[in-house]
Amino acid sequence: MPRNCFGEEELTYLQEVIESQDAWRWGRSNFVPRFEEAFGAHLGRKYVHAVNSGTSANTTAYASLGLDAGDEIICPAVAPIFVSFPVVAIGCVPVFADVDPRTQIISAEGIEARITPRTRAVVVVHLNGQPAMMREIMAVAKKHNLKVIEDCSQSYDAYYKGRKVGTIGDVACFSMQQSKHITSGEGGMVATDDPELYKRATEFSNSGMPWYLYDLERPEAKPLNGLPTRGHFSFGHDFRFSELQGAVAFAQLEKIDQFNARRRELVEKIETELCNVAGVRLAYVYPETQPNYWVYPVWGPESLGCRGELNYIEVEYQRMQAMRQTSVGVPLPDYVQYVPGSCPNAEKSTRGAWSFFVHHSVEDDELERAIQTFKEKVKDA
Ligand SMILES: Cc1ncc(COP(=O)(O)O)c(C=O)c1O
Repeated sequence: MPRNCFGEEELTYLQEVIESQDAWRWGRSNFVPRFEEAFGAHLGRKYVHAVNSGTSANTTAYASLGLDAGDEIICPAVAPIFVSFPVVAIGCVPVFADVDPRTQIISAEGIEARITPRTRAVVVVHLNGQPAMMREIMAVAKKHNLKVIEDCSQSYDAYYKGRKVGTIGDVACFSMQQSKHITSGEGGMVATDDPELYKRATEFSNSGMPWYLYDLERPEAKPLNGLPTRGHFSFGHDFRFSELQGAVAFAQLEKIDQFNARRRELVEKIETELCNVAGVRLAYVYPETQPNYWVYPVWGPESLGCRGELNYIEVEYQRMQAMRQTSVGVPLPDYVQYVPGSCPNAEKSTRGAWSFFVHHSVEDDELERAIQTFKEKVKDA
């Protein structure tokens, strides 16, 4: 886990929160709204809503689309499970699409092959810090009238054809867990330009209470038969981000350029050291994209073993497969199969896969040791 992540700036802001004696989401030190506004400006999105984890951000982003139970959301075959479990959590059905074997990123062809009359949305994960091929993906989404969620948890400040990832689809989500480009220990964000999506996201993560910012009008709770109501206008959870987290996130955002520069240095070192090693393939970068790596992926000989996060192979998916229903009891149509062999490119791409952690806190000698270990493994393979 990364060290040297936090400094004086975080402590100064945290002290402000502690002294205010008011650390919840709406505490008087106001760091959460300040952070949301600053991140919106940094990303280039109108509305940002911070929540208590990246998984909550995925769940909230999907819920913001207002889908019905049993609707299908296409997910990448290779991604952390935090991407597809939230689909289950909102009563929808995850359908896994194959990836580009060069990058393990979901492809337009993979998506198109999985579209059915129940498909409503696709989650695009900009994996490892690398932007997906958004032009092709957006074209498929437009053709089939699908909403696009961009999961940018691993890809802050990465660019696709000059645009930051997270500004291309309908809604984006981010994680601020410890290992990410900026962190509040745990935390997440949803970002969109659509006020209706922002409103639903805010309500869903605040037990249905419409505590919108950005001067958006809030409905008022009305009594029923003379009895008081508290204003829970829709179903939701409490995924609120606290002022303590907001203070840390605000300080981190002020340092993101410096963090990104250090990540680039680490990546350059890896590329220099490994570009001429026989049997090693470096990260494939799509034309006109600028990654901002979270981890740097490489491929060595297949004898290095298999690595990768194939969601549909996990035990819980095997249980859903056997029961023919999702974990929350939504029936799986016959064509939804969580079985080995269903996404061949994804499965093949796990062979010989390896990655280097390029967090900005990684020291030169630490990376050097990781590179040497990898080189030795490749030599012995
Ligand atoms: C692509 C992606 N999406 C979502 C998440 C979930 O984030 P969290 O761990 O903050 O819940 C992660 C976390 O690793 C992630 O990498």
